[in-house]
Amino acid sequence: MKLSKRLKAISDLINPNSKVIDVGSDHAFLDIYLNKYKNCQCLAIDKSKYCTETAINNAIKFEADIKAITNDGLNGIPLSDELIVISGMGTRNIIKILNFDITNDLILSSHTNIDDLKAFLNEKGYYIYKELIIEDGKTYNIIYAKHKGGAR
Ligand SMILES: C[S@@+](CC[C@H](N)C(=O)[O-])C[C@H]1O[C@@H](n2cnc3c(N)ncnc32)[C@H](O)[C@@H]1O
Repeated sequence: MKLSKRLKAISDLINPNSKVIDVGSDHAFLDIYLNKYKNCQCLAIDKSKYCTETAINNAIKFEADIKAITNDGLNGIPLSDELIVISGMGTRNIIKILNFDITNDLILSSHTNIDDLKAFLNEKGYYIYKELIIEDGKTYNIIYAKHKGGAR
C-alpha cells in the first residue's frame, strides 16, 4: 500500500515494534502501514463511527492486525508508554485532545497555528525532538515532541 508523502514521513519517524495510538486515524492507513511494514501495535481512534468502520474494513482488506475504536480523543483511554500520533487536524483540536497530564512521546501534524502548538508543548514540559516540513500539495509541519521528564 502507498501512503501520502505526509503520512510516509510520519511513518519514517516511528521505530519498528512501537506501540502507537493514532488519534483522528480516519481510514487508518497509517496504522495499517505501521502494522504491516514495521510490526507496530496500533490503536486507531476516530470520533466518527463511519471512519472506524472503514478502518476495520481496510484492516481486513490489507490483512493488518490493528485495533480501531470510536472515541473522542484520548478520553478514557489508559496510557502507558505508547507513542501518540495526532495528524491532519488544527492546533486548537490537538490542544483540546492533549490538554491533560501527559508525558508520552508525541508526533503531531497541524495545518494551523504551529507557533501556538509549540507554545502549548513548551508549557506542558515538552521539547521538540525533531521537526520536518513536508511539501505535499500544501506545506505541512510534523513535530516529534518528547517530554523533558522522559516518557512514562
Ligand atoms: C483530516 S482527518 C486526518 C486523518 C489522518 N490522521 C491524516 O493525517 O491524514 C482528521 C480526522 O480526525 C478525526 N477527529 C477530529 N477530532 C477528533 C477527536 N476529538 N477525537 C477523535 N477523532 C477526531 C476526524 O473524524 C477525522 O477523521
